[in-house]
Amino acid sequence: MFILLICLNNEANLMFWYIFFSIIGLIIILILIFGYPRKKNERIPCIEGLDDPGVTKAFEKMTKFLPFKMLYRKILSKLKKFQPNGLLVDIGCGSGNLIVRIAEKFQNLELFGVDISEDIIQLAKQRALDKSVDEKIEFKIGTAESLPFSDHSVDFIISTLSLHHWSDPLKVIEELHRVLKNNGTLLIFDFRRDARKFFYGLFTFATKIVVPKALKKINEPLGSISASYTPDEVNEIFSQTTFQNIEIHPYLAWMFINGKK
Ligand SMILES: C[S@@+](CC[C@H](N)C(=O)[O-])C[C@H]1O[C@@H](n2cnc3c(N)ncnc32)[C@H](O)[C@@H]1O
Repeated sequence: MFILLICLNNEANLMFWYIFFSIIGLIIILILIFGYPRKKNERIPCIEGLDDPGVTKAFEKMTKFLPFKMLYRKILSKLKKFQPNGLLVDIGCGSGNLIVRIAEKFQNLELFGVDISEDIIQLAKQRALDKSVDEKIEFKIGTAESLPFSDHSVDFIISTLSLHHWSDPLKVIEELHRVLKNNGTLLIFDFRRDARKFFYGLFTFATKIVVPKALKKINEPLGSISASYTPDEVNEIFSQTTFQNIEIHPYLAWMFINGKK
């Protein structure tokens, strides 16, 4: 009985320290995030390296890490709120990380993935095949500036982590507007350059220490966040286009942009 009491006591002690250190850890993280101001740096356009097989492979490796998985989960739960149906196109679909998940989760959609890189489209096709959703998705090589769709033909456009690579975002947005049906929906997810400094610390650490060599060479993922836009800049870009009906939802280091045609 006495031993049992000591054990219980030890367990209670352990639980106490576990909760204590968790709270201290959380407070330190919150201080690190909110104690430093947002970054104010000039945009540095970023060369897309996904047509280099080494970079493609390295990017694939990175997407297996938990933060990426959490990211796609967050985007999927955002997408669910829009209850998409009809034809959904993923612009800059990369190796299909998102669109394959969409195919698995949403049954009622006709799906297209478009990307500028031929190699990455091959990977996306392979991923769809591996996950047995290859019959649900069609992949096309194409640029966001000139999409392989007719006017007013698409119900939903999604694009993740691609906006900061578009060399002419105004032209792309006009193109998205052209292909969307009236009342069609646009959902873009990207980093925001004016992220909390903490995230620049994380991205610098990842770029210099964590990521495979091929990504270090092209300064990723730091290059991507430095090439991204601020919510104000996104607002300014859209204001110069026909796409007027948009909302920007900024978060700590990323943002969602959604709009209706
Ligand atoms: C960082 S990857 C993101 C891939 C994917 N959306 C994801 O979230 O995993 C950016 C992708 O955008 C594509 N891309 C860049 N510029 C593009 C353009 N102008 N038109 C179409 N795709 C483009 C690249 O080839 C690359 O696959």
